[in-house]
Formats: sequence, structure tokens, C-alpha cells
Amino acid sequence: MKKVRIGLIGCGGRSQAHRNSFQQMDNVQVVAVADPVEERRLEAAKQFGCTRIYRDHTELYDHESRDTLDAVIISIEPTAHTDTETRAIDMGIPFLVEKPMTLDLDQAREIARRVTETGLITAVGFQDRYLDLMDIIKAELPRHKAGGLVYGAWIGGIPGVWWWQKKSTCGGQLVEQNIHLLDGLRYLYGEALSVYATCSTGMIQAGVDADPSYDTDDHSTAVIRFPHNVTATLVSGCYSTTVRPNCGLVITLNDMVIDYRLRNNLILRTAAETRDINRQVDQTLLLDKAFVHAVETGDPSGIRSPYPDALKSLELGFAANASMESGQVIYFDK
Ligand SMILES: NC(=O)c1ccc[n+]([C@@H]2O[C@H](COP(=O)([O-])OP(=O)(O)OC[C@H]3O[C@@H](n4cnc5c(N)ncnc54)[C@H](O)[C@@H]3O)[C@@H](O)[C@H]2O)c1
Repeated sequence: MKKVRIGLIGCGGRSQAHRNSFQQMDNVQVVAVADPVEERRLEAAKQFGCTRIYRDHTELYDHESRDTLDAVIISIEPTAHTDTETRAIDMGIPFLVEKPMTLDLDQAREIARRVTETGLITAVGFQDRYLDLMDIIKAELPRHKAGGLVYGAWIGGIPGVWWWQKKSTCGGQLVEQNIHLLDGLRYLYGEALSVYATCSTGMIQAGVDADPSYDTDDHSTAVIRFPHNVTATLVSGCYSTTVRPNCGLVITLNDMVIDYRLRNNLILRTAAETRDINRQVDQTLLLDKAFVHAVETGDPSGIRSPYPDALKSLELGFAANASMESGQVIYFDK
């Protein structure tokens, strides 16, 4: 069987999750790796016995072609996106890129435009769309009266990567991390009608609780209105150190409460019964399999978050950030 030849751009933390997937897939061969950090690119290359090792995406694209690579996986810092995607588009190489795909919305819009124009296969790392638990929620919602309140939360600590300490390099927790739940809301309810958001700093002291450069929000709250009388409140916090609240989504319907515990389990409660369902799948493996299958067959229908769709989640996150700045509600044209 001919294997799908993959190039890895970025060999840091998230790349490791994709590498774990590829180690479990016998139809994939990682043939090229790139990362400015020597130790990381060598480690990634060693995992797959790969000998085409590059310092960055530029060197990789300069030495590879559509004849030597079937796809690339781009897992780099949110501010490191330059021509990382456009060179793939120029060369006709399908790509899977991690969220947030960039912190420059104009750049993301131009990439989405070119992806749509060329029909190139793309995927964005919104892994939660591939959860069995998300499938259950999606199937359950139409069985009930439309509308209701949703409370969503992602409250934890500060992730270890250097670029998370500053809002200018991570985009803020909502755009960098809680964008998973934001995207989940879009996946369940469609396009938002409006967003209003606030944020707060002062709990975490730079240089004491975090790096001296820390200047991102300690917490934020976004109120998002969706069609059919759905209003979601999404809170994000990175100040939590020892005891943590449940994270995920609580969906309150007229006759059921759906309590989705982030990537872990789902509790469906009615007056008559309570069902507790554990996650059974590895959603990143399913994301990677869906992308590779699309590359293999040319059929992108299994990809749940192609770049142009993911752009809408990024735009919603940035609209929430704009609301935090201005104090104004942002309305979306329909
Ligand atoms: N989908 C998810 O669940 C998930 C989880 C974690 C992180 N992420 C996202 O993945 C991305 C990467 O996060 P991470 O935790 O791996 O960060 P990281 O800092 O651990 O790794 C990023 C790597 O990219 C390399 N890099 C930077 N510019 C490059 C270039 N031009 N060419 C090649 N390599 C380059 C860096 O040297 C670094 O090793 C971020 O956007 C993050 O938000 C997604």
C-alpha cells in the first residue's frame, strides 16, 4: 500500500500529539521535519527514522515538492505564521494547521479565500469536533425544544509554553484555548448573532505567579447569542492553581440538562433518568485520520473543520476580544 508522505512543520508540544497518531497509522510515513530548535527536529526525525531534516518551513518548502510530500502538518506558535500556509497553497500541498491559525485576521481571510479558490484540502486542529460525546450532543439537541441557556467554562492554569504569557503572542485565553468550546458552540448552534465580552487582570502577578512578561487576561466572560433563542456564556480563566471547577458545557434544555465534561464524559439528565457516558475515542487520532483519508482519496467530506470554516471561529474569538477592548456588543451581519 502506498503511504501518505507527511512533512511536520513545528515539532513542539502539539506536534507530539499528531506524531502519536501517525505512529498508530500504518498508511502514513513522516518523511520530513522542520523546527528551528535542533533538539526538537532531531527528536521528531528519530521517531520516524526520517532523514529529511530542516531548520524551518522555508528550508522544507525549498527542498520538497508535491512529488515528494503529500501533506504537511503545521503546529507552530500563533505568531509564527508567515508564508507557512501560502507556500503550501502555491505548491498544491494539503495542510492541517493548528488553531488559532494565526493572530492576523487579514492573513487568515486571505488564506481562506485562496483555499476556497483552489479547492485545496485543509483541516484545522479543532479536535473536539471528532469526539463521540460531541456526536451524541449534536444528535440529542433536535429531539428537544430549540433554545435555552448554555454555560461553558475552561478554567485552569497557565500553559507552559513561553508565548502564552503575553496576549500579543497567544491572543488571550479565549482565542488560544477556549476557542475549542467557542468552536464547539458554532458546531452545535451555527453562526453567532452577537457577542459581548469582558476581561480582567490583577489576580496573577507578573514575575510572582507567572513570567515577568505576563500581561494576558486572568479571566474573561463572553456572552454569545445564537439563532433559535440560544444564549451561551463562556468563561475562561488561567488563575486556578490547586482546586479546579468542572470545565466543559452545561446545556440547559426545556426537559433535559446536558452536562458535557470537557473531553471526558457526558451526563444526560431528565426527570426520568440520568445517563453518564464516558469518552471512547481519541479525538486527535480521528482528526488526523480524517485529514489523511481526505488526502488519500481526494474526498474532504470527513474533515469537520476545514480552514474556511475554522476562520469563522477565529473571527468570533477576535470579535469577543474587540468587545473586551471597547465594552460594546458586536453584532454580526446575517
Ligand atoms: N488542537 C489542540 O488541542 C492544541 C493543543 C495544544 C496546542 N495547540 C496549538 O498548536 C500550536 C503549537 O503549540 P505547541 O504547544 O506545539 O507550541 P510549542 O511552542 O511547543 O511548539 C511550537 C514549535 O514550532 C516551532 N516553529 C516556530 N516557527 C517555525 C517555522 N517557521 N518552521 C518550523 N517550526 C517552527 C518552534 O520552534 C516550536 O518548537 C499553537 O497554535 C497552539 O495553540 C493546539
